[in-house]
Amino acid sequence: MSLTAFTGGSSPSGTPITKVTMPALAEMKRQGKPISALTAYDYATSRLVDEAGIDLILVGDSLAMVVLGHDNTLAVTVDEMLHHVKAVRRGVKNALLLADMPYGSYQVDSGDAIRNAARFVKEGGAEVVKMEGGEKRADLIHRVIDAEIPVAGHIGLTPQSVNVLGGYKVQGKNLSGIEQLMRDAVALDRAGVACIYLEGIPREVAAMITAEVSAPTIGIGAGPECDGQVLVFHDLVNLTFGPPAKFVRRYGDATALITHAVQAYRADVKSHQYPSDAESYHLPKETKAGLETVLERKRAMRR
Ligand code: KIV
Repeated sequence: MSLTAFTGGSSPSGTPITKVTMPALAEMKRQGKPISALTAYDYATSRLVDEAGIDLILVGDSLAMVVLGHDNTLAVTVDEMLHHVKAVRRGVKNALLLADMPYGSYQVDSGDAIRNAARFVKEGGAEVVKMEGGEKRADLIHRVIDAEIPVAGHIGLTPQSVNVLGGYKVQGKNLSGIEQLMRDAVALDRAGVACIYLEGIPREVAAMITAEVSAPTIGIGAGPECDGQVLVFHDLVNLTFGPPAKFVRRYGDATALITHAVQAYRADVKSHQYPSDAESYHLPKETKAGLETVLERKRAMRR
């Protein structure tokens, strides 16, 4: 093991960036510094997200929907997730890299869960794996952490439970729902999770959980009192082909950008405007002169 401090490079603005680690996340919570998180699924976008200085990058199983075009997250497999985690790993230097454990890869038994989680660490280069579920998942998560694999929890609207919940609905809107969410958060905190994702819960409940647990909370549709915020990259840049959820703020319009670029390219091809002479390769002068001599000779023979 090297004892050399692992520091990163610098952001586009020139400010030095250091590698975000799990203890650094906890320190950010202690100091009240908001944690920025985003999903990413490929080399190019993860590199941009990392270079923009985002603290935490999650290869979410939302991949199933926003990248692979499924209706929900249930279909994506460990191998498909790993394919993308490896690509993201190549693009990320400073952010803490998390990988979602897909549906069916950890619910069966702890042996299965540890084997699959270890694949995300060994093959994919993830630093933390994420699993959905609270109280009922706490023992399992504790065992995975015991196998030296950091785990992030995820409670509230857990998309892998879509068929049980009967849709994507805000959770914790009544007293028993709030009590359950508090029990879930405390159980995950006691199990030693690196952080807890709070998805689709009322702001007031997220604030109570954030104040109660020592693990940093990362909210998505859970209000501003969480220790950090995460969004799905495709939501942030409008690449989702539908009306956004209430909590989504679009910071860019990739649909417009890509559509305009592709339409302009098509129009140029159809009207012989692309490629221009300047965008073409040319023969060296001597070869061109030689070629003209040969062609002239052929034309003369035909006369
Ligand atoms: O899969 C995902 O993108 C997620 C985030 C929404 C937290 O789990």
